Amino acid sequence: MERLVIHGGRKLEGAVEINGAKNAAVAILPAVVAASSGKCLIDNVPDIEDVHCLDRILSSLGCEVKKIDNNTLEIDSTSVNTVNACTEDVRRMRASYYFIGALLARFKEAKVELPGGCPIGVRPIDQHIKGFEALGADVVIEHGAVHVKAKQLKGANIFFDVVSVGATINVMIAATLAEGVTTLENVAKEPHVVDVANFLNSMGANIKGAGTDVIRITGVKKLTGCAYSVIPDQIEAGTFMIAAAATRGDITIKNVIPKHLESISAKLLEMGVEIIEGDDSVRVRYVGDLKGVNIKTMPYPGFPTDVQQPMSTLLSVVPGRSIITESIWESRHKHIDELKKMGANIKVEGRVAIIDGVNSLSGAVVKATDLRAGAAMVIAGLIASGKTEITSIEHIDRGYPHIENKFRSLGAKIERITVEE
Ligand code: EPZ
Repeated sequence: MERLVIHGGRKLEGAVEINGAKNAAVAILPAVVAASSGKCLIDNVPDIEDVHCLDRILSSLGCEVKKIDNNTLEIDSTSVNTVNACTEDVRRMRASYYFIGALLARFKEAKVELPGGCPIGVRPIDQHIKGFEALGADVVIEHGAVHVKAKQLKGANIFFDVVSVGATINVMIAATLAEGVTTLENVAKEPHVVDVANFLNSMGANIKGAGTDVIRITGVKKLTGCAYSVIPDQIEAGTFMIAAAATRGDITIKNVIPKHLESISAKLLEMGVEIIEGDDSVRVRYVGDLKGVNIKTMPYPGFPTDVQQPMSTLLSVVPGRSIITESIWESRHKHIDELKKMGANIKVEGRVAIIDGVNSLSGAVVKATDLRAGAAMVIAGLIASGKTEITSIEHIDRGYPHIENKFRSLGAKIERITVEE
């Protein structure tokens, strides 16, 4: 088993490049399956475990996947020969549920095992199912798999009961090849939703309105291969922004879309951090005492739930009281117990974390309880005195490419070690 070992107390300085967005890539790769001819050349794909897992699932379905370099994949989905995605890899990750939409669009049938993912709360897929049924599919859940089947998919008006990234993307993929027009209302507006829509349009789909509350999809006859570059990762960028402020550092985060980072920048500014936006970069600089802030996570353009945990680490060493309210996931404060082992003063009441800033954290052996909790622990290790050892880092590797190399290039003392369990 691997662990990250950090000797904290160093300011982060310099520049770091952000990779492609995990949550866009993990939807785009399954969506490739909907193309019945041509190859997809996809660039700026992050080199993370979730992507490796999707590569294996694509191959198991009959796709030819060629790795051009660490961040570029060429996928030929012409020869997909099954609608059955029921492997250990499918069970391991959340985004494997996008194979339902993609296989259903192309073959009018899919059998996909129920997905896993981070243990951050109940993760229903009722809105996905509601969408597939509205398009004319029969949906049955049996033996731990979702089985969807339709004679013909027909466009429909669908109003989602909750704003869901996954349901918006999955039903949007399924509707690309449906007959007629599909209107999706109360949809998610995250940058990765827009990116998946742009990718599907590059394959020949006709999708309008992604990024607004209403998405309109006019069904087309077929989708074909294309060349596409994934947008930069909003959450990886946000994690480095927070790490810069937490270590009292000064770093330039390159290859970002500053607009996507506005809710994070706004909170850091409110705390007293300096933010200098460039065209495709953002510089984050500690310029003096910080003050506590209150945060409530919300769907985009609100403050993202996926950077809430790293933010709690920063706030744990900011003077005064800060309150974080997690409104998307009911169990996304599990990392707080780990932060407490390092000396943080935080009380959790349901979805609310009440943080009273302390002067410093001290190194300890702590666990990455999920992906973003892992990022929160890395930042805690970077600011703590002494040595921090992080266990269960397979969670971190699912979503952050080469995290230790990136932090090391900014001056951190961090290494990956292998231990006998
Ligand atoms: C995506 O999860 C992301 N994962 C999550 O990021 C992210 O936290 C989340 O969106 C919110 O931004 C991927 O993109 C792979 P949702 P998803 O459907 O799609 C409820 C990370 O750290 N809901 O937008 O699963 C649900 O319970 C991961 O990178 C229903 O009730 O999230 C939640 O409260 C963790 N019924 C809310 O909606 C449904 O059918 C939002 O969930 C679907 C969702």
